[in-house]
Amino acid sequence: MTPDYALLARQLAALLDTRDWLTNSAQACAFLRQEIPALNWAGFYLQREPEMLSLGPFQGKPACHPIPFDKGVCGAAARTRQTQRIDDVHAIADHIACDAASNAELVVPIVTGDRLWGVLDLDSPLRGRFTAADQAGIEALMAVFVERTDLE
Ligand code: SME
Repeated sequence: MTPDYALLARQLAALLDTRDWLTNSAQACAFLRQEIPALNWAGFYLQREPEMLSLGPFQGKPACHPIPFDKGVCGAAARTRQTQRIDDVHAIADHIACDAASNAELVVPIVTGDRLWGVLDLDSPLRGRFTAADQAGIEALMAVFVERTDLE
């Protein structure tokens, strides 16, 4: 089930040829939704005001907005600037249930300089969907995104 993340990193680098954050984030989440198996939601939340995440480009069902830093898995990623890899979101007390189909979640913070730009959120209907290898692979893909994009 683990995709070839080195190949995906090369493909993503080729896809992100605009440096524009809006175009690149739209392309990146569409690419992830297509290429990573067993996802039901892939998208970005952006920090556009202090301590708050706003819904950005995504692929999937309409989602929760806004998310304060002190709420949910996305808030924890934003607050701690650490990737959150959750096998079963129903075991997380303050998980924000946008879609009842979601069971596992991976949230990667996106930092530029000393500023948290936003987070990437991936949801899966499969419990335990995201392995440590997936985490490392997705973090590497987000490093490509940061390198190829002018983040405002
Ligand atoms: N479940 C997330 C909210 C975002 S949706 O899954 C798209 C959370 O607890 O932060």
